[in-house]
Amino acid sequence: MTLPRSLRWTGGQLDLLDQRCLPHSVVYRQLTKWHEVSDAIRSMVVRGAPAIGIAAAWGVVLAARSGDDLDQAIEGLRASRPTAVNLSWALNRMQSFVNSKGWVDVRELERLAAVIEAEDRALTQALVNYGIGVLPDDCRVLHHCHTGAVATAGVGTALGVIVAGHQHGILKHAWLDETRPRLQGAALSSWELGCCGVPSTVIVDGASGLLMRRGEVDVVLVGCDRVAGNGDVANKIGTYNLALAARAHGVPFYVCAPSSSIDITTVDGDAITIEERPEDEITHFHGEPICAFGVRAWNPAFDITPAHLITGLITEFGVIRSPSRHSLSALPLVN
Ligand code: MRU
Repeated sequence: MTLPRSLRWTGGQLDLLDQRCLPHSVVYRQLTKWHEVSDAIRSMVVRGAPAIGIAAAWGVVLAARSGDDLDQAIEGLRASRPTAVNLSWALNRMQSFVNSKGWVDVRELERLAAVIEAEDRALTQALVNYGIGVLPDDCRVLHHCHTGAVATAGVGTALGVIVAGHQHGILKHAWLDETRPRLQGAALSSWELGCCGVPSTVIVDGASGLLMRRGEVDVVLVGCDRVAGNGDVANKIGTYNLALAARAHGVPFYVCAPSSSIDITTVDGDAITIEERPEDEITHFHGEPICAFGVRAWNPAFDITPAHLITGLITEFGVIRSPSRHSLSALPLVN
């Protein structure tokens, strides 16, 4: 089955796949204003680091078409979510282009947004091609959150590696963390793997330690929202616990990191802003309270995995083993 595209530019409007409706229905939201794109990123209509960067680039095009103040639009879009650097990365490219011209040419901005989107398709495919090289024969892979096609404009990152591993006959099974509190693993990853015919099992996040202890996991594959200059990685909350468990059980732990997620200007993981989301994502389920009345919740959306717990970063340039400031600064990054 062909997966729906995460976004479509239709010439004057951005159609965004509403990921909140998956797996039950495929619904596109039609957006014509930059602040609608900003709201869609914040409310996670569109989510996944590469997809929000690309959506933001199209948001700048919508602002230009409406004659809105571009600086205001770019800063408004940048503020939608703070952790995934792909957002700033795409907006900086749009901003530099405007600054270099000194005036706004809507057609040229449109072309640049299309280039950013096309690049993502190419680089996710290149990353996946390198990623299948780290998979042992007949492997059972554990994955966290959702990093598949609809989190990008292309084939996805870690989940793309899992799909390709299955197609090449290397991957035996995928274990999917459900990923509390928004359940990207249960709702999105299981759906995408199902569409691609990959055998998978959803587990609660807390089950991964037991699985590893029983020898049921050969490799852990995750995505990322930002790689700092020293190789520390911000990714969905729970990734750090997974990396600790993997290290304790001698399981290789790989992070799929397209160059659009690598930020060597951020010195280390502690310098990354961690988004904190509303308490009701934890205290409520589908609008119904699941905690006692008045209970408080802390809801960081991401955590930091230190570089020393990472076996390798899988990028479109190849696999960087034991990532470090030295190896990352040698990459040909576009900023
Ligand atoms: O809050 P989300 O769902 O946007 O978080 C997504 C993740 O943490 C993904 O692992 C990451 O963005 C990589 S998507 C290729």
